[in-house]
Amino acid sequence: MSPNQPGAPPKLPIPGVRNLIAVGSGKGGVGKTTVAVNLAIALAKLGYKVGLLDADVYGPNVPLMMGVNQTPMAHGERIQPLQNYGVKLMSMGFLNPGDKPLVWRGPMLHSVIQQFLRGVDWGELDCLVIDLPPGTGDVQLTLIQTAPITGAIVVTTPSAVSLEDARKAVHMFAQVKVEILGIVENMSYLLIPGTDQKMDIFGSGAGKKTAESMGVNFLGEIPLDPEVRIGGDTGKPVATAGEDDSRAETFLRLARNVIERIAAIGPQTGPKIDITD
Ligand SMILES: Nc1ncnc2c1ncn2[C@@H]1O[C@H](COP(=O)(O)OP(=O)(O)O)[C@@H](O)[C@H]1O
Ligand SMILES: [Mg+2]
Repeated sequence: MSPNQPGAPPKLPIPGVRNLIAVGSGKGGVGKTTVAVNLAIALAKLGYKVGLLDADVYGPNVPLMMGVNQTPMAHGERIQPLQNYGVKLMSMGFLNPGDKPLVWRGPMLHSVIQQFLRGVDWGELDCLVIDLPPGTGDVQLTLIQTAPITGAIVVTTPSAVSLEDARKAVHMFAQVKVEILGIVENMSYLLIPGTDQKMDIFGSGAGKKTAESMGVNFLGEIPLDPEVRIGGDTGKPVATAGEDDSRAETFLRLARNVIERIAAIGPQTGPKIDITD
């Protein structure tokens, strides 16, 4: 069902939240959560009010990567988001900690996503970054059909298999009339430690070519870098490093590119977003 068809649920705005940025991919393991987490932190460093919603209900990795392991409180009917590195957070991982999987069917998934969007006290946000589960399934469609997404970022590696699925993700967003902010190529190349030489593992440049061939923006390359993985595993993502750190700078550059695209599109609610620098 497309949102333009009769009978589609209305896309009600989320009061106080100006822009919803969905981070998706065709495939799992390409670095979607890594990009979502570091992007959210970089946006907060640029001075924006930022939230991060972990919509990967079955495989929530945001708590680990953001270094947060608490249970959210409720005030009346509303859940209070947790917070770290200047980013407000909500994840199923806070409500169902440990290794026990959730076994839920469609309607329950639908209602938990609605709870996360509208039952959480997000307050005033310039950007709510949404980390989608991999693929083009139920959660993605529920979100896209009920929330006024400003635009989507598609994360891919330069490998042919990842790009094939990334193209599907771009088509999914296009079909349901969600603007594509652009493609991010993750794991573009390996910077050989101690040198400034790049080693192409998956064949860098393919993400940019794919973006060009599909007529969508290219938002940037992120190298394959052990520090990026360690940052995620230890709950201290590389984007938290000082401004002169090249890894942090990579994500600040990505954040600036995303803001530029949002400014060009115009937010769904509220005044046009400012480009602070
Ligand atoms: N650029 C990168 N360099 C090194 N490791 C990375 C990079 N991007 C992601 N990873 C690692 O790859 C694994 C999968 O990334 P993740 O963000 O969980 O992917 P997804 O959310 O798409 O499933 C994680 O261990 C993560 O730390
Ligand atoms: Mg993930």
